[in-house]
Amino acid sequence: MQRATTIAGVREVLKPLRAAGKRIGFVPTMGYLHAGHMSLVERCVAENDVSVASIFVNPAQFGPNMDLDRYPRDPEGDGAKLAAAGVDLCFEPAVEEIYPEGFGTWVEVDKVTEGMDGASRPGYFRGICTVVLKLFEIVRPDAAYFGEKDLQQAVTVRRMIEDLHLEIDLSVLPTVREPDGLAMSSRNAYLNDEDRAVAPLLHEALTGAAARFREGERSADALVAHVREVLARAPAIAVDYISVVDLRDMQPVESIDGDACIALAVDLHGTRLIDNIILRDG
Ligand code: PAJ
Repeated sequence: MQRATTIAGVREVLKPLRAAGKRIGFVPTMGYLHAGHMSLVERCVAENDVSVASIFVNPAQFGPNMDLDRYPRDPEGDGAKLAAAGVDLCFEPAVEEIYPEGFGTWVEVDKVTEGMDGASRPGYFRGICTVVLKLFEIVRPDAAYFGEKDLQQAVTVRRMIEDLHLEIDLSVLPTVREPDGLAMSSRNAYLNDEDRAVAPLLHEALTGAAARFREGERSADALVAHVREVLARAPAIAVDYISVVDLRDMQPVESIDGDACIALAVDLHGTRLIDNIILRDG
């Protein structure tokens, strides 16, 4: 596996491969890789001639009180995992490479970013869209891989790809979980033993609501009430939002008609955890 820290370095490696007609797949990450990330990487390696991953903890998507400074990092471990999975090139730029002095162009996607994480974290999706478009421009992939774990992010990136006519096949892959149901996340590393023990309630609450949906419940309020009730079993869980939204545009629905999802974000002693479950009719 080659490693590049500069944009010029990435272009130098990829230009001849692209010219030779190789199909390039890309997995953007913020590193501290776990099995969820690796599921995207493995799919990318399987489906493309050349696979590129990026590791960049993007300051633009962290709010002033977020965990930018303590975000976990393990460049060596990450490199070993990516190499073992068959990745050809890992791009690990410094912040100044991506946001040099004088930087002033931002990408904003409307509507799908209004609620949920967009409402709770001002500037979050602007930071994500800006860095993802930059990375797409640097790597110029034929295919890109994102996780359902960050569903609003994936829907936002899909919107951006369509709106800006990017020639990129987007794949959104299922959430990889710990054996007890907790969605894998780099931020799980922050949890102490007690918080780790209650964290699976998120998935339990969502699967319980999905079971009610399968039994015919279509009221968003009723499904949210169920999720809230399960989460209330752990007083340490502070709910940020529990939302039932249309899968296509992330707009809240009162009564589910078509594909939807229940998404939630909570705070556990300063650690933000998100999860969701998709509800498909039929
Ligand atoms: P990061 O949180 O590192 O996640 C990178 C990719 O891995 C995202 O597409 C995310 O949805 C996916 N992922 C995370 N946990 C997963 C899990 N348990 N199962 C399956 N996929 C999972 O998301 C970001 O980084 C950043 O916002 C980024 C897109 C890199 C832009 O900075």
